[in-house]
Amino acid sequence: MATTSVEGLCGFLQAMGIENTSFVSTSTDLYTNPLAIYFSHLAELIVQLTDCEQQVAYKSIFPKSPLFGHPVNDGINLLFYFSNSNLARLLMSYVIDRGASYGNNLLTEALVENGVDTKGQKVIVEFSSPNLGKAFTGLHLRSTIIGAFIASVYERLGWNVTRMTFLGDWGKHIGLLAAGWSRFGSDELFDADPLRHLLDVYAQIEELFKKEQEAAKKVHEGEDDAEVSHEIEAERDDFFKKLEDGDPDALTLWKRFREVCIERYTELYARLGVRFDDYSGESDVSHEAIEEVENALKENGVYRESDGAWVIDISKTDEKHGAAIARFRNGTTTYLLRDIATVVERSKKYSFDKMIYVVSARQTTHFQQVFKALDLMGRSDLAQRLEHIGFGDVHGLLPKEGASGLLLSDILDQCRDATKLALDADGDTLQLFSEEDPERVLNALGAINLMADDLSTRRGGTFNFDLNKLANPGDYTGLNLQKWYTGLSSKLSGVEIDRAELESTDYSMFEGEDNAYADILRLLVQFPGIVKTSFEKLESSHILTFLFNLVDLLPNVWEDEAEAEGSSRSLAKLAFYKCFHVVLENGMRTLGLAPLTA
Ligand code: ARG
Repeated sequence: MATTSVEGLCGFLQAMGIENTSFVSTSTDLYTNPLAIYFSHLAELIVQLTDCEQQVAYKSIFPKSPLFGHPVNDGINLLFYFSNSNLARLLMSYVIDRGASYGNNLLTEALVENGVDTKGQKVIVEFSSPNLGKAFTGLHLRSTIIGAFIASVYERLGWNVTRMTFLGDWGKHIGLLAAGWSRFGSDELFDADPLRHLLDVYAQIEELFKKEQEAAKKVHEGEDDAEVSHEIEAERDDFFKKLEDGDPDALTLWKRFREVCIERYTELYARLGVRFDDYSGESDVSHEAIEEVENALKENGVYRESDGAWVIDISKTDEKHGAAIARFRNGTTTYLLRDIATVVERSKKYSFDKMIYVVSARQTTHFQQVFKALDLMGRSDLAQRLEHIGFGDVHGLLPKEGASGLLLSDILDQCRDATKLALDADGDTLQLFSEEDPERVLNALGAINLMADDLSTRRGGTFNFDLNKLANPGDYTGLNLQKWYTGLSSKLSGVEIDRAELESTDYSMFEGEDNAYADILRLLVQFPGIVKTSFEKLESSHILTFLFNLVDLLPNVWEDEAEAEGSSRSLAKLAFYKCFHVVLENGMRTLGLAPLTA
């Protein structure tokens, strides 16, 4: 009987020789974390001792239990060891019963059916959020990678997750893009490669705009008495004003840019194995939501006109935050006002329990302003549910020489090409993948390599984008994880594991000193705890360090197919490889990596 139900787990433990299994009903952790079985059983043994004679207690310091070996006195510590063969017996069934959900820290269906409540709470994870027409920066890259991890770890912990990106598709920069389009835009170039062409157009108009501003500055400072021109600035502001006022021509052009960009981004994110449930954008927010926010701010006495613009008194006492602009002088809205109104709107559409913004730590002040403004307008109920998860900068990510900026496709191509060099340098690994469609495989490997590299960096630290690292077949790389994953998949292909046999089969291969199999077993059992810590801190590096340590040990127990030939592998050994494969796959998926499957 499977270990996923109360009766099943009790029966299993009784078959191992544990007579009193009443502790099974004391904690639900037992069903997600096998170590909790050890702790609960130990606690049970202690409870049995508390009401007894001193002599009995003395003797019982060495209680007999199927789960533990006899304690060992090493001169400093009194150590309790796992009984390795029974750890294997328990863990193999436990992991195989759970399969893809081992490590999820989620109650099993059988328990839910028994009435344990695990109603999934709703979380929106907003990440990536590039700007229309502009470069895809290292910060957007990190947001994409870390955001995908956060979304998937929440999912694994039982949350109902909506993955959302928030395109920068509204605001003055769209006005500038339109001013550029009227001078440099080409339908032909746009159709051929829209993101690249818009980037070029944007770079050209930015250059002109900069010149215009510099010239104006000189005039103001009295260095030049020429006529001041604000041509581009006026064009930019007019276009954005037209957009906000619903001008049909302005909207048609903007829509054309936006739709094609979403199409392209969808393809590019797929190369990373990332998808969104909702391509939202700054443009989405309705007039009603904005009005609702402005009225609430006014009613609470924190919204005022200042020099023709509208500002929010974020804090009357705190000079640092002071007043923040919500509407420019010509009446158009700011990033801040749109973000605040978006919260109100999303809460109606999704009624979320939590919303997480995965955005560079550089925007910490902005999010403090958003949250504070909600408090001030009397919506602390919403502010409380929001969280900004920041991260450090990126070094070493540069556009190609002569290019006007970086696109996501450039980054992915670079990583794919670097990973190909690593494969060429390591013939054995190359062979593992060579039968597949090479373009698809290389692309997926490039993405895994890049993502694992970022995810192994502490979130708050700086990520060094290092193509040299990706181009080498190192141990601590995503490529190495995928290599062992593929190796194990092929070892296990066609293997059927007899679940009923698993409980009673011989696990003596895990006994003995310096047993390489047992070393791995001790790591596999820790996986659910690692996922939990990583969730609590939203630090992917815990899982990556764990996976790197795990595959580091794999060569110690690796048998080539040639070695195994003739003698069929024992069930214990097959189950062991199977469990390893499950943990490696679950670990990768929890990180948001999409392992290549054959
Ligand atoms: N598009 C913005 C940028 O590139 C990031 C948006 C972050 N999300 C938000 N709700 N403000 O800087």
